[in-house]
Amino acid sequence: MAPMKGFTDHLFRSAFADHFGGFDLAVAPFIASKPDHRIKRKYVKDVLPENNTRMPVVPQILSKTAADFIVLANYLYDLGYDTVNWNLGCPYPMVANKKRGSGMLPYTDRIRTFLDKVIHEIHGSLSIKVRLGWKENADIFRLLPVIDQYPLSEIIIHPRTGLQRYQGSVDLDAFEDCLAVIRHPVVYNGDIRTVGDFRRLSRRFDRVHAWMIGRWCLADPFLPGCITTGADDIPDKIYRMQRFHEALFEAYNGVLDGPSHVLNKMKGLWRYFSLPFEDCRKTMKKITKTRQPDQYLERVNLFFGTEAQLRQPKADPSA
Ligand SMILES: Cc1cc2nc3c(=O)[nH]c(=O)nc-3n(C[C@H](O)[C@H](O)[C@H](O)COP(=O)(O)O)c2cc1C
Repeated sequence: MAPMKGFTDHLFRSAFADHFGGFDLAVAPFIASKPDHRIKRKYVKDVLPENNTRMPVVPQILSKTAADFIVLANYLYDLGYDTVNWNLGCPYPMVANKKRGSGMLPYTDRIRTFLDKVIHEIHGSLSIKVRLGWKENADIFRLLPVIDQYPLSEIIIHPRTGLQRYQGSVDLDAFEDCLAVIRHPVVYNGDIRTVGDFRRLSRRFDRVHAWMIGRWCLADPFLPGCITTGADDIPDKIYRMQRFHEALFEAYNGVLDGPSHVLNKMKGLWRYFSLPFEDCRKTMKKITKTRQPDQYLERVNLFFGTEAQLRQPKADPSA
């Protein structure tokens, strides 16, 4: 499961594992390193082992400062993690403009200096998640020969630039060129929306060692299981989605501070939850307008119970 800050937190990951399965592990959404090296458990709550009993997890750090990264990474290894992931992919201007995430990709020398310091000081293994570049693919082709020299457990590639964010298409030719020069295990990530997409990609890139899915496991939570088991005729899909929704609501209701936070959280999820359903824009508007938990649940249950209709998948002869 791909990390999605604000979406795939430990409550989501646990409920997903209970209701659908299909993933071997999740990379957790990033934790930003801080110059204050006294780390409080609250700050790393999302990856505390006791909150992650249902699905194995790899914590992720966003950082451009080796010293800060080392302290946080070693804290996470001390919690029992073998591997920590370094985020070199985040495209958001608030992050990237400070030369963090994908904003660091043009600066090969900074990354080299960072890794020179980090690699000898951390007490576990390191994986890296990258995009093709900040503004252009040239970044990754300058960078790969450098980072490939370090002992990494894997390199996860989302083949878009940071500037693209999530727009436009993934650049599969550039990904193929990356595969040709990387010695480490490579994970592919990006736009796997259907089993057909997965089959096409896995036929083309047979060297890929693992596959990562983000947005499309929120839109179609059966997808990872269909990919791993080959099953495609799953009964009671809508009913199972409703149960998952209920479990999430209860989980957030148990930890978030007040009903408006719970409703905001749930309404945010509908951005992806609504995608597999036939035209439901009006219903989504009504869900978004609810102000009280009872009213929200009533509206959502009406949707699942009587209105929801899954889109028919398009025939895919090449899959
Ligand atoms: C709302 C949102 C939050 C994200 N948060 C993170 C994050 O914390 N760390 C990270 O490496 N990638 C993050 N990503 C990127 C995803 O991990 C993934 O690379 C991207 O969604 C492409 O994969 P997909 O097409 O399967 O969704 C985020 C993406 C979205 C849409």
